[in-house]
Amino acid sequence: MERKRNYIYPDLDTLAAAFACEFANQVREQLEEKNHMHIALSGGSTALPLFRQLVEQTTADDWSNVSLYWVDERCVPSDHPDSNYGMAKETLLEPLGLAQERIHRIMGEVDPSLEANRYGGELLKYLPNENGFPVFDWIWLGMGADGHTASIFPQQIELWTAGSPCVVSHHPDTSQPRITLTGGVINGAKRVSFFASGKEKAPVIKEIFGKEGRYMEYPAFYVNPGSGDLEWYLDQDAANLL
Ligand code: 6PG
Repeated sequence: MERKRNYIYPDLDTLAAAFACEFANQVREQLEEKNHMHIALSGGSTALPLFRQLVEQTTADDWSNVSLYWVDERCVPSDHPDSNYGMAKETLLEPLGLAQERIHRIMGEVDPSLEANRYGGELLKYLPNENGFPVFDWIWLGMGADGHTASIFPQQIELWTAGSPCVVSHHPDTSQPRITLTGGVINGAKRVSFFASGKEKAPVIKEIFGKEGRYMEYPAFYVNPGSGDLEWYLDQDAANLL
């Protein structure tokens, strides 16, 4: 696969269906080759149709060589409506009946600093490491209209270069504490898939792709896997200023 690829679809549903098809092909191929895959999921509304399509297009067997982790988590209990794990559990994990032992959630209910350290240690334990960071096979990212990704916001962009795999951040409007992967992990991944949908994201997408305006203020701009592949899945609305 070329290092950087962009895919534009008419709408989020067709984007989600296409990605789920690509995912199904990839995991079946890796399963045949007996390659275990460590994959990190994001939350947010864009992830929802992706998860639904994955339930449509895959079976539990397809995931039998996949371990799941999270890119970030809101510091709330897993049954809280804000929980990324809770949303994935309801729309992906339970419908597919995925085995608990290969699911590594971030515990949003415990002390954020302690959990950031614990989760970082869990990643270093279960994943291959390079330069002191865990190496994911595949990381799925969303992007906010403010250019944030994972839970690294423009107001705290210094967290992108933190020396540890996971840090505590805070939502700029609600101050909600979050635990998030840092740039060292994201850019160390073998493959990063970015998903963006909706007109409200078009201006930031234009600035990032064109390296214009305030692009350097956006954490999403810094996603650039050193030796991995980066692909953007956009719907027409998000891409309409390109
Ligand atoms: C989160 C996500 C976050 C999300 C973006 C996009 O915890 O909210 O991990 O990075 O992917 O904010 O969110 P939407 O898909 O809802 O626009």
